[in-house]
Amino acid sequence: MEKVRFAIVGCGEIAVQTAQGMAEAPHAEIALTMDIELALAQDLAQRHAGRATSDFEAVLADPAIDAVYIAVPHDLHAPLAIAAAQAGKHVLLEKPIATNVADAKRIIAACAENQVTLGIAFVGQVDADCRRLRQLIAEGLIGKVVGIRYAALADKPAYYWHGGYTRRVHTDWRISKARSGGGIVIMNLIHDFNTIRFITGLEAVRVFAEYGTFATPVEVEDLAFATLRYDNGAIGSVEAGSAIRGGSMEAEGDRIFGTHGQIIIGRRPRVYSLEGGQGIAANEWVTVAAEQPSARYNIVEGYATALLEGRQPPVTGEDGLKALEIVEGIYRSGETGRPVTLPL
Ligand SMILES: NC(=O)c1ccc[n+]([C@@H]2O[C@H](COP(=O)([O-])OP(=O)(O)OC[C@H]3O[C@@H](n4cnc5c(N)ncnc54)[C@H](O)[C@@H]3O)[C@@H](O)[C@H]2O)c1
Repeated sequence: MEKVRFAIVGCGEIAVQTAQGMAEAPHAEIALTMDIELALAQDLAQRHAGRATSDFEAVLADPAIDAVYIAVPHDLHAPLAIAAAQAGKHVLLEKPIATNVADAKRIIAACAENQVTLGIAFVGQVDADCRRLRQLIAEGLIGKVVGIRYAALADKPAYYWHGGYTRRVHTDWRISKARSGGGIVIMNLIHDFNTIRFITGLEAVRVFAEYGTFATPVEVEDLAFATLRYDNGAIGSVEAGSAIRGGSMEAEGDRIFGTHGQIIIGRRPRVYSLEGGQGIAANEWVTVAAEQPSARYNIVEGYATALLEGRQPPVTGEDGLKALEIVEGIYRSGETGRPVTLPL
């Protein structure tokens, strides 16, 4: 196998971008596209010269498919990923791994039992800047990590809830707690939780949260605040909202506070260090941003090469689970009014 032959399952908003990255990735091939709406599958197939179907069983039965890339509403992640694993297909699964921790564990177990490789489409581990930041922290540039500040302050337009940002698919799964698992926390912040895990190597051990729905006609939360404790004693704060008027996900980066420096993780991460070193000047803000391919290319190519070389993928099911545990901890804490100890 020189290339991984993928079937794209779910041809909505994000699949368009992933298909582009897949088409550019040298170790991946789009062999088949599948969506319950055949026209969407055909659209992607036409762009990338693949075949199209609306029949998931046909994907599973197709010997010309090595792996499935699954990009469907969150409640379908577990059933489709488990069915694919049982059919012997490798699984590259969109985030969040599932809507709840129990389902995430079932997916991981099904992939292990059927000896297929599970990867999650988080961006942190395959991003050159995040890798550099991880190395800078490991080598002590900002000293001991003592604080983390998450800021996911979006102002999502009304149409987002029924069609995403591109309105490619008219759908209601994003507004339904049962279908999506939640709002800004499981939808967006989960990326940040995993990215910070990767960069710092820290795991959250306790969370306390308050959340609610204040400005949007949806079942899921549109505002959430939380505090976190990490396994090295560091503390964290979370500010997240999807109806932060005038807000922007890019305007505020997440921050990592160290005893000797600070990192801001935005589109172009910045580092401040008292002593400097490793190419970073002391006592001034230094931008750390590499030229690199798109995130979707990195996700696909990182997973495909790992599969071909028999290695663990850059982002594992365990990563998906760990990030989801913080999310579920936030939801449980907000519901009960009590701190929640992690892992669940
Ligand atoms: N990694 C990222 O940065 C990123 C960004 C956006 C979305 N996502 C994730 O990608 C997933 C899809 O999100 P989206 O924005 O593309 O949603 P979307 O609603 O635009 O697309 C979902 C697609 O799944 C299809 N579908 C529904 N049921 C299906 C089934 N049983 N079998 C096959 N296809 C089915 C729908 O017809 C639709 O085309 C979600 O998990 C989302 O969180 C990830």
